Amino acid sequence: MENQIKLIGPFKQLLTMDHLPEKGAILDAQLEIIDAAAICISNGKIIDIGHFQALQDKWANQAQMIVLEADYVALPGYIDCHTHIAFGGNRAQDFAMRNAGQSYLAIAAAGGGIWSTVAHTRACHQAELRDLTIMRSRDLMKQGITTIEVKSGYGLSILEELKILRSIKEANEACEVDLISTCLAAHMKPKDFDGSAEAYLQEIAEELFPVLIAEKLTHRMDVFIEESAFTAEEAKGYLLRAKDLGFDISIHADQFTNAGSALAVELKAVSADHLEASKTTEINRIADSDVVAVALPAASLGLGCAFTPARQLLDAGACLAIASDWNPGSAPMGRLMEGASILASMEKLSNAEVLSALTNRAAKALRLADRGKLKVGLIADFMLYKTANYQNITYLQGGLQPEQVWKNGQLIYTNKTKS
Ligand code: NIG
Ligand code: FE
Repeated sequence: MENQIKLIGPFKQLLTMDHLPEKGAILDAQLEIIDAAAICISNGKIIDIGHFQALQDKWANQAQMIVLEADYVALPGYIDCHTHIAFGGNRAQDFAMRNAGQSYLAIAAAGGGIWSTVAHTRACHQAELRDLTIMRSRDLMKQGITTIEVKSGYGLSILEELKILRSIKEANEACEVDLISTCLAAHMKPKDFDGSAEAYLQEIAEELFPVLIAEKLTHRMDVFIEESAFTAEEAKGYLLRAKDLGFDISIHADQFTNAGSALAVELKAVSADHLEASKTTEINRIADSDVVAVALPAASLGLGCAFTPARQLLDAGACLAIASDWNPGSAPMGRLMEGASILASMEKLSNAEVLSALTNRAAKALRLADRGKLKVGLIADFMLYKTANYQNITYLQGGLQPEQVWKNGQLIYTNKTKS
């Protein structure tokens, strides 16, 4: 029964991720942790949260009781706010070449790089791409992720970008978790486009944007600002047009050179993602704005590059989210907690900063006000780790995975661990 009230508990610890600062550093002592907790859900929403005993007394007559026998830690479902999981092919050869000392540009010139994934993705039918996206979404779901942002960007023509965004829409309809799509038609200037970067962006703005709106394919627009992609000058007019039409803006910024983050602040983008090359000026500029800084540690690991200066960003007052960036080139691992906990040890992040970056602060990066916290009125997206202490989550660096994942009040995944 869809709207049957359910009471689930007791949890050894329930982290609400509520009442935390929206920006800046967070101490673990600031986490709201309810011991011996329970959660009450109805119609896909959280209707009560508190101590198990008190909630049992209050709801016993109306609710179906789901009583847990072991120690569990409950958290909001993670939000992976930056992925490129709608792709075809594989770039293991790029990884091998990079590790043999070749540069990104040399690899691209030898037929690798983003353009090789474009060829593989163009060769996929929409249904194939949908199925690949569903498969990867389920892999992320098993990691406790209940909302996944998915970018296009391996089509790079009007029809091919539409194919990818339609495949993401179909995947979202078939999938247990929510997929939030983003148009990244401005990932690089396609090699087969006969004209300037500006002309390509103009064509996309004129011919693709109206279809995205008409078919409700996305409300988010992303651009890769980098030497190998678009300059801030080229991107600005394109993003202003998108903004005028009501799209939220997010920018791949400061990955190799510190281009992009200034434009993200100027245009009031919702997020600036990567920032591995950001220096004090860029860090302070972002910290003084409402732009969410999205760190992508798996891309640093995949490329063997510096990490996003997450500690400095937080200390300067920025809002930090962490995402997987799962893509076949720079971030093939597709593991969120592994990357986040490695970033934590390299950058000295508190547990509260990491968990917030994957929940309430990631929700802000996608402008989703209905999730990211366990709070009455929000959607019942949560997951359970079989452990007595939330510190084990980052400590085990991905070695501990959720045993149950709940989405909109429904149990969508369970992985019974041996007891
Ligand atoms: O987020 N930086 C640009 N885009 C992706 C990588 C794309 C690729 O290499 O296929 C990223 O790292
Ligand atoms: Fe990316």
